[in-house]
Amino acid sequence: MSLSVSAVDDLPSDAAQRPLVRAAGLVKEFRRVKRVSGRLGGLRTLFSRDYDVIRAVNDVSFDIHSGELVGYLGPNGAGKSTTIKMLTGILTPTAGAVSVADRDPSRERKANALNIGVVFGQRSQLWWDLPLRESFRAVRDLYGVPTMEGDRRQHELVKLLDMDEFLDAPVRQLSLGQRMRGDIAAAMLYQPRLLYLDEPTVGLDVVAKQRIREFIAHVNAERGTTVVLTTHDLEDVEQLCRRIVLIDHGRVLYDGALTELMARYAPYRDLVVTLASPADVAVNGAEQIGRDGPVVTLRFRSDRVKAPEIIGAVTAAHEVVDLSVAEPRLEAVIGRIYTQRGLPESPA
Ligand SMILES: Nc1ncnc2c1ncn2[C@@H]1O[C@H](COP(=O)(O)OP(=O)(O)OP(=O)(O)O)[C@@H](O)[C@H]1O
Ligand SMILES: [Mg+2]
Repeated sequence: MSLSVSAVDDLPSDAAQRPLVRAAGLVKEFRRVKRVSGRLGGLRTLFSRDYDVIRAVNDVSFDIHSGELVGYLGPNGAGKSTTIKMLTGILTPTAGAVSVADRDPSRERKANALNIGVVFGQRSQLWWDLPLRESFRAVRDLYGVPTMEGDRRQHELVKLLDMDEFLDAPVRQLSLGQRMRGDIAAAMLYQPRLLYLDEPTVGLDVVAKQRIREFIAHVNAERGTTVVLTTHDLEDVEQLCRRIVLIDHGRVLYDGALTELMARYAPYRDLVVTLASPADVAVNGAEQIGRDGPVVTLRFRSDRVKAPEIIGAVTAAHEVVDLSVAEPRLEAVIGRIYTQRGLPESPA
């Protein structure tokens, strides 16, 4: 597969060292009408409105470097989409600063648009009544992609995302998974350096999700496209993201490696053993956390004791028919953080 040189390679070396995206003390407030009270008096109706101020993003800072693939996570209403809208220039921050490739996205929206591709999974950016092929044509024209180059990129994207079958269907007739692939391809046609994906797998079946994950991994690894990914599907995160930024109530709770989050908050493994006859199991270094007939689950600290030691102790004391060791799931850790609305004090 032929890949063109990305814009990142054309930059002077000091610019290549600087973060591609910089959010510094970002704040976004919205005013929401609390109460509208009216008074019918003579000819005129007088209204007064009360507003609540909602601080959707509250002092968020992070740097993202070229080539990174970052998961931007948080519960519903945490402020993820609002942050992404500030990074794209759709929204202007109430306070703080954003820069993308040394530009202020909301002041230089047009110049910024060439650098970024955006997909909002919940809302298509495509032309509803146009066939997908024509939508692609319109995007290519809008971004001034030369014809031959555009044909080549489109061909590659259609192949990667398997879109041949529905290229001539109007967007409104596409299934959700087809439309999402169309949206992602449209955002990549002009080869932006940076791709924001806000819930690109929402509502998709397992196969469609996997195809999109493979595509994201591909553009990041092969083309060096920087990706900021928002998702509630933690399998997306486990498969794709080395770094995550976790927010809640508009504040950053965690910014770092996914492996470190797991090592810090879930440094355990579960050993599931099936015994020849039902029994409780008591071995040093492990705790029995569940039993269902002959199937016993033991939890042990993987930073203190190794699985073979526990297995050895169990098989010495019981006749074991089957066993498996399970890693903790990201879902369990994230679930705890969301429930407690903060990072746990200690490991599970
Ligand atoms: N235009 C707006 N006017 C008023 N309030 C808004 C507006 N946009 C977002 N909000 C509020 O800001 C908060 C953050 O919303 P946001 O859409 O950024 O959350 P999110 O993290 O993307 O959540 P989800 O996972 O549900 O998509 C919410 O309380 C939301 O109601
Ligand atoms: Mg959102």
